[in-house]
Amino acid sequence: MKILAIESSCDDTGAAVFANESVLSNMIAGQLVHKEYGGVVPELASRAHQQNIVPVVDSALKKAGISKDELSAIAFTRGPGLMGSLLVGSSFAKAMSMALNVPLIEVNHLQAHILAHFIKTQGEEYNPPTFPFLCLTVSGGHTQIVMVKDHLQMEILGQTLDDAAGEAFDKAAKIMGLPYPGGPLVDKYAKEGNADAFKFPMPKMPGLDFSFSGLKTSFLYLIRDEVAKDPQFVSKNQNDLCASFQKCVITILMDKLQLAADSTGINQIAIAGGVSANSGLRETLRESEKKRGWKVYIPRMEYCTDNAAMIAITGYYKFLKKEFAGIDVVPLARYPM
Ligand code: KG4
Ligand code: ZN
Repeated sequence: MKILAIESSCDDTGAAVFANESVLSNMIAGQLVHKEYGGVVPELASRAHQQNIVPVVDSALKKAGISKDELSAIAFTRGPGLMGSLLVGSSFAKAMSMALNVPLIEVNHLQAHILAHFIKTQGEEYNPPTFPFLCLTVSGGHTQIVMVKDHLQMEILGQTLDDAAGEAFDKAAKIMGLPYPGGPLVDKYAKEGNADAFKFPMPKMPGLDFSFSGLKTSFLYLIRDEVAKDPQFVSKNQNDLCASFQKCVITILMDKLQLAADSTGINQIAIAGGVSANSGLRETLRESEKKRGWKVYIPRMEYCTDNAAMIAITGYYKFLKKEFAGIDVVPLARYPM
């Protein structure tokens, strides 16, 4: 079975080839065009996908050493994501499946982030989570705690009612005048800062749902008030601000994970999505193996942020079940699991 997978939900154009039970290539083209706007501009994203998709697919096939005529199926991200971006990937996938006369497989991007844990890496021991496990999916658009019962059977236990965790990182960075996407920069500066320098109120959200808008507002007000007294406040305190903000987000995430573990009795905990690249969160989770008695699963860095390898592995599991899509399948900006 040889699958070509395409990811185009936001601002990264990805293509991967899955064959012989492993990912043979995983190519990604980012889009620098959004930097000057401080966020992803949907129309510019879809135009850049159109420019990138042919070379990215071509290089994924070449790197895998596979000709397109050998492919058994084409998998693509159906949603959730930006409609214009999804349309480019889905149209391309449909055209390719028609031209090659092979099945089409539609993939839920959020399910794919979780299934990234099942990608085998050559030369590394294969230790995927066993079912059922809990997965904290934290990306730019989503924050969810998911109970994973099987590869394709997942239940959302809680999710954010306002901003996503990645969005909170990006907005805090923007308030400090840092470029988009700010999450990785907050992570970088936090390493040099004092995480107890500033305190923020914890959200009072019952159950397993999340809220980050209060934290964002209190961060904004702190900076507004302090900058009024000292215009250099942000530059003088950047590391401490980043460390304190990051600590607060991690505490919110860890508290909810603990609640989820307690209420389900499941102590196999995985993370997924762009924010799972955060070094503070990764370290806190690793420590919780000893501290909380969890078995923790942390994805390789390349599989945290958006990539096509995760679409390919999801395509593989759907192929096994012959879950194919019709040529009339449409992308979905919102796509519940
Ligand atoms: O999963 P992803 O690549 O795209 C979506 O599906 O949204 O996640 C992107 C998000 C952005 O908000 C980005 O700032 C955040 O992940 N992110 C990070 C880090 N790396 C990426 N946030 C905090 N620390 C990081 N190291
Ligand atoms: Zn994503």
